[in-house]
Amino acid sequence: MRLHPTGKFENFAAQYAHIEARPLAAAMGVEVSGVDLTRLSDGQFEEIRHALYRHKMVFLRNQRLTHAQQEAFSLRFGPFAVDAYTQGVPGHADVHPLIKEADDRSEMVFGEGWHTDSPFMPEPPSITILRSVQIPAFGGDTIWANSALAYTMLSDTYKRLVNELRVHFSLGEVLKSVHRAVEVSDSPIGRLAATREATQLSEDLQRKIKGNIHPMVRTHPVTGEKALYVDMAYAVGIDGMTPEESAPILQFLGEHIVQHAFTCRLRWEPDMVAFWDNRLCVHQAFNDYQGSRREMYRTTVVGEKPR
Ligand code: SIN
Repeated sequence: MRLHPTGKFENFAAQYAHIEARPLAAAMGVEVSGVDLTRLSDGQFEEIRHALYRHKMVFLRNQRLTHAQQEAFSLRFGPFAVDAYTQGVPGHADVHPLIKEADDRSEMVFGEGWHTDSPFMPEPPSITILRSVQIPAFGGDTIWANSALAYTMLSDTYKRLVNELRVHFSLGEVLKSVHRAVEVSDSPIGRLAATREATQLSEDLQRKIKGNIHPMVRTHPVTGEKALYVDMAYAVGIDGMTPEESAPILQFLGEHIVQHAFTCRLRWEPDMVAFWDNRLCVHQAFNDYQGSRREMYRTTVVGEKPR
């Protein structure tokens, strides 16, 4: 869009002793190599965690994990989060399949629209881990934007404004889009689409539509870094403001965070693992591979109440 962050942040990798790290883009993202996620030493894991907080998104190639191995890697970051959307695979309740079949003609895909994961929950997941099994020949990328860099790039006056604000996050608008655009199927998002037939939504869905209010600027609990906590999918209002007052602020910030210079984009291959810190970035999936199958598995790590 408008800004170039040169001089404000350089995505250089640190000098690591136990892993190799190669930045993906100027704004964020790093490829880690020289490790096997099924046999990580403590030293390797600590450097991977450091790389995650610095680069916001980490990915590795050639990691053919079983569901149990993905669970074990995920648990090194902390206990599983309660997932807002999907049910796990049999025997692995916390490994959530994100599968889109080749014949699924839905106009919306799981993860479409710039978002941070489940901010309508009282304690949204901190880290999300996504593993690829089957990938289209092209398309099906994931894109992230660095919301800490986006905060840094605001003027001091705008920073003072957003520092005071609190955002209302709700599942409501996304659910309406799912009801409109997704075919009913035996996939997580297909099952959510099926709730359009319900005469009354479950209490759980009603709670997620009611949502939660969180600070617009979050302080990372480990590094102390500040980041904008607002997105274009779930942020529906600003506490204490009318819709007319909040809409232009949410619109500006939604577009500010995701401008090209703050992003990185991953072209998936089978057997990749990518993970990101939802407190420091937003992301979205693309619905651009109709006729091809994409099979991914996701785990999420418990988060804290945003502060
Ligand atoms: C997600 O939003 O967690 C899914 C991203 C993807 O499937 O690329």
